[in-house]
Amino acid sequence: MTAPAIVDLPARAHREAAALVAGQPLFERYGATAEVLERSWRAGVEAGDRLKAAIVDGRVVGVAWLVPKGAFARSPYLRLLAVATTAAGRGVGTALLAACEAWAFERADDLFLLVNAHNEGARSFYERRGFVAIGQVHGYVLPELDETIMRKRRPSSTDRAAEATGTCRPPPRGSRR
Ligand SMILES: CC(C)(COP(=O)(O)OP(=O)(O)OC[C@H]1O[C@@H](n2cnc3c(N)ncnc32)[C@H](O)[C@@H]1OP(=O)(O)O)[C@@H](O)C(=O)NCCC(=O)NCCS
Repeated sequence: MTAPAIVDLPARAHREAAALVAGQPLFERYGATAEVLERSWRAGVEAGDRLKAAIVDGRVVGVAWLVPKGAFARSPYLRLLAVATTAAGRGVGTALLAACEAWAFERADDLFLLVNAHNEGARSFYERRGFVAIGQVHGYVLPELDETIMRKRRPSSTDRAAEATGTCRPPPRGSRR
């Protein structure tokens, strides 16, 4: 598969992207039908939300939904990240998440998201990309499901340089090893 292009999801592709999300059991469980998603996206975009899409060969293979101050009326909130099951495990989610982080950290110091507490695969996906689980909200979206709140802080310029060169930061002076 060729590398995905990450773009702002155009309104004409909302239906295609909504179908991609709504077809997945995880989102079905939360009642996310294509119609509900399309309606929410239309309202969200009017209110300033940002939808990002991963495109391969002209088709939407992944989508992300960002709400600028969706966390605590203060910080960006990644409300949804979904990759087509047919494109999973090929770097699409990583590319979309990187674009979301770039967007978020241009304007804020933190990015938050919720992940179903039983969705181990997604949770470790986020942890390996620098998100930290900071708490659980029991029965929040649906009474029978718990959500884990995850947070990523804007990497400092030192962290970014270390990531680029593969080096580690020395511990702060006076800290115990
Ligand atoms: C989680 C998700 C966004 C990852 O997207 P992806 O394009 O498959 O991810 P990538 O190919 O960039 O990276 C694969 C990584 O995701 C992990 N992963 C999680 N769920 C996976 C799945 N169903 N299939 C393949 N890989 C999965 C892999 O272990 C791998 O981890 P690593 O690279 O950190 O070792 C995608 O699997 C998905 O849409 N899942 C269903 C919806 C969901 O759980 N969304 C997140 C919560 S809102």
